[in-house]
Amino acid sequence: CGIVGILGSEGVADKLVDALKRLEYRGYDSAGVATIVDGKILRRRAEGKLRNLELALEREPLAGAIGIGHTRWATHGAPTERNAHPHATDQVAVVHNGIIENFLDLRELVKSGGAELETDTDTEVVAHLITQALQAGKTPRDAVADTLHRLKGAFSFAIIFKGEEDLMIGARRGSPLAVGHGDGAMYLGSDAIALAPFTDRVTYLEDGDWVVLTRTSFEIFDESNLPVTRPEHTSAATAVQVDKGNYRHFMQKEIYEQPEVIGHTLSRYLNLNKLCTTLPKGTSVDFAALDRLVISACGTAFYAGLIGKYWFEKYARIPVDIDIASEFRYREMPVKAGDLALFISQSGETADTLASLRYCKQQGMRIGAVVNVPESTIAREADVVFPTVAGAEIGVASTKAFTCQLSVLASLAIHAGRARGVLSAEREAELVRMLGEVPAYAVKALKVEKDLEKLSQPLSKSNHALYLGRGTNFPLAMEGALKLKEISYIHAEGYAAGELKHGPIALIDESMPVIVVAPHDEIFEKTVSNVQEVAARGGRVILITDARGAAEAGINAWKTIVMPDVPEIAAPIIHAIPVQLLAYHTAVFMGTDVDQPRNLAKSVTVE
Ligand code: G6P
Repeated sequence: CGIVGILGSEGVADKLVDALKRLEYRGYDSAGVATIVDGKILRRRAEGKLRNLELALEREPLAGAIGIGHTRWATHGAPTERNAHPHATDQVAVVHNGIIENFLDLRELVKSGGAELETDTDTEVVAHLITQALQAGKTPRDAVADTLHRLKGAFSFAIIFKGEEDLMIGARRGSPLAVGHGDGAMYLGSDAIALAPFTDRVTYLEDGDWVVLTRTSFEIFDESNLPVTRPEHTSAATAVQVDKGNYRHFMQKEIYEQPEVIGHTLSRYLNLNKLCTTLPKGTSVDFAALDRLVISACGTAFYAGLIGKYWFEKYARIPVDIDIASEFRYREMPVKAGDLALFISQSGETADTLASLRYCKQQGMRIGAVVNVPESTIAREADVVFPTVAGAEIGVASTKAFTCQLSVLASLAIHAGRARGVLSAEREAELVRMLGEVPAYAVKALKVEKDLEKLSQPLSKSNHALYLGRGTNFPLAMEGALKLKEISYIHAEGYAAGELKHGPIALIDESMPVIVVAPHDEIFEKTVSNVQEVAARGGRVILITDARGAAEAGINAWKTIVMPDVPEIAAPIIHAIPVQLLAYHTAVFMGTDVDQPRNLAKSVTVE
């Protein structure tokens, strides 16, 4: 979810909506704003996209010079107007990110204190807890401090109070929150992107902090309610609203940006004159001293990590333990202090990834972060940041962030291989030259778009699809299946080609499209024999390969997509492109909401 709060001048509702537009990637189930007019709290809320809130505000404009706003990704309670934030009593209005874990107990508590609950949300209890503390004679700040101590879980809040037109309180535990400093104005935002149109002077709250704002002052307190100071940063987040240009969707634009942003990213890690890898300025990692590497991430970033595992093991001979962050964080995995743990995240805010990071940090591990948002919480809590330079990614289904993550991981694996003496200087130079060509290969890869578009109509008729691959193409198969699921809502699974015979082959008949990612590599023949098993059973094979693969496969494929010939280390980055385009065109053909698919959010800051 996204939070914004403004203590400014008259007409605050429009500014809140502007800021929410920049946060819509965090959720778009429902949205709302609350302001104070003549001492009273007023609200407008709407189900669905932000546009519906705008329409509600056009019908019934909202005055006020102080206000809070929210765009929601539903956790507790359906995404209806009734459950939309802000939640309010006549005394306070609250917007909230995260989950209050003990909310069922707290519901009973506030009910026994006389509260009448109107919604199914966990947030409403917070409004009632504060209200009951105010009714007991507490000041707003004491009422909030009291309430915060009763809450279990991860959250951030922005809170306004009846009769208080120069007071706003924010709090952060787990979910991010930043204070923006204006000229006679003060802001709260769940990230610096939301604050960018108003100010570039930003203070990030630390975990457990809460803040009391007026238009001209701010006081930050820590978990024990002691005053603390936190540094002010100049935010690099741009105020420019990103737009689609002449592309139909952000996702398509982002797919097309890949040659350029992969180039930007690689330029941080490769020295193409000296043909060696370099680490970004100011970073150092002693790869030679590592016993093993731990990797954790969610969603698409996890699949990037899985491909990274193949690379680190092959090129640097570092054993890699990798797991999805929601499992990792509770696994109590034994780790060694001093070893490196790598967390991969586009947003840098994913709650499960952050929790895994903190677990490893507590165990004394060195923390590396491959992140796209340099000011994110994960970036700030890491010891070493390996940036991806993908630029803002707006489409919920990740594309360019993924290939940039792969570019970083490939570079790091080569760097580690050289540092550990596994790769000779000549081999490093050869691999660097190959990776350096990736932007040019990506341009060629985009040329297969038309061929893939033709497959969208038949694919849209299927209820299921299977993706197969071996080696680094296995995670890519899973990523392909995820892309198709996310945006076309067609059920898809990614399988290791060799595992097919142990179960999924039972699903194969004429109605099952099987998308095989198989450039001609060392294990191509093995993949081909698995695919023959599919073809023999009437499965409709879509073979994504290169010219040599197409010539040598000898499979009766239903369709063959011929990709440019690329060296092995470049193959997963380049073959991500057709996989993205196939999902994209299928979704477009089906008329789904490609950039904001149902039920998903770009950045998931809850467990
Ligand atoms: C969400 C997004 C996915 C993304 C995942 C991890 O589920 O919808 O596209 O891969 O979060 O996000 P991160 O920002 O950590 O890469």
